[in-house]
Amino acid sequence: MTRPFPPRSRSLDSLPGYPMAGIPERRRELEEAGVDVIDLGAGDADLAPPPLAVKRLQEAAEDPSFSRYPFQLGLPEFRRRVAGWMGSRFGLELDPFQDLLPLIGSKEGIAHLLMAILNPGDVAVYSDPGYQAYLGGTVLAGATPHPVALRPENDFLLPFRELPERVLDKTRVLILNYPNNPTSAVAPRSYLADAVEFCRERGIVLLHDNAYSEMAFDGYRPPSVLEIEGAAEVTVEFHSLSKTYNMTGWRLGWVAGNRELIATLSRLKTFVDTGAFKAVQAAGIGALDSWKDWVPQNVEIFRRRRDGAVAAFQDAGFQLKPPRATMYLWIPVPGGRPSRDFARQALDEAGVVVIPGAALGDGGEGFFRVALTVPEGRLREGAARLRNLSGG
Ligand SMILES: Cc1ncc(COP(=O)(O)O)c(C=O)c1O
Repeated sequence: MTRPFPPRSRSLDSLPGYPMAGIPERRRELEEAGVDVIDLGAGDADLAPPPLAVKRLQEAAEDPSFSRYPFQLGLPEFRRRVAGWMGSRFGLELDPFQDLLPLIGSKEGIAHLLMAILNPGDVAVYSDPGYQAYLGGTVLAGATPHPVALRPENDFLLPFRELPERVLDKTRVLILNYPNNPTSAVAPRSYLADAVEFCRERGIVLLHDNAYSEMAFDGYRPPSVLEIEGAAEVTVEFHSLSKTYNMTGWRLGWVAGNRELIATLSRLKTFVDTGAFKAVQAAGIGALDSWKDWVPQNVEIFRRRRDGAVAAFQDAGFQLKPPRATMYLWIPVPGGRPSRDFARQALDEAGVVVIPGAALGDGGEGFFRVALTVPEGRLREGAARLRNLSGG
């Protein structure tokens, strides 16, 4: 063979490896050696979905009509319920058939939207550290990523007004995510309003990832960017059932906002997928119907875990404040050590998996992430085991 085999796309080749490379293998080795590993890594809750979602899935699975292709239309009733929920939660009036689109999880939609709107030479601005799909979608579209570091001195808000003109000239999309994974930062409404104005002035798409809109504490209610006047001219906002309803594996979310952008994404998706399983969309209706009564007690579990974990990490010598939203603690690595070294040591010496900030982007260096996805007792034990690494 004279040509390289198997062939690989240059854009795929240019993407980095899996952020957690090496950790699962090391974890297995330790477990085989009898270590009780505490996994504070994955943003994937250990809790059950709402019973009504499970019941609706069971019922739908029995009905052969749900086994047919969903296409991009999906279940009309799911669309109507999503529009209804966006109305009661954010005061929005959305047309279920034009202003939103069901997705096979928000990750799928984010990556595909970027592929649908970007060309080589275009720039996508997004936060660093940030969710994988922002980089992936941009690079797979052949466009240029422009990660911007989220720093504590800016309250982890992406300083889009400071971008140089040479970058802005080429920028077609600004990706924001508040409440933020991994920093747990929340954005004041004035910041989001300024982002809308900025994007409208410059003809930039505002992609807002609102996957954590319902995971907030102490009375804080994260807004939708679509509440801001004029936002729908340039904005699409992604929502997910994954975190709100402990349904990460079910793969269901939606995008709402600008009609033309939604039609563009829907067109791209007709070439690559045929929609989320209708029985899962039926379950999604059950989840949305559980929002009012079920979500608060689920959030309360995370609130208790947050309080327990924050106290335990503080007691172990780490510097952190309780976050107002998300299921993450974003903690400075003590002693200015590289975050990957710290995470490696945490696993090797304490049997605790944490995510090194640098694994989520260069801008995450200096921090590590803890997910509140295990019971409070495990969080407390994990923190206690890390005391020797805190330097405190
Ligand atoms: C910021 C952010 N956006 C999107 C997602 C993806 O969610 P989904 O399961 O809907 O694809 C995640 C999941 O971790 C996330 O943290």
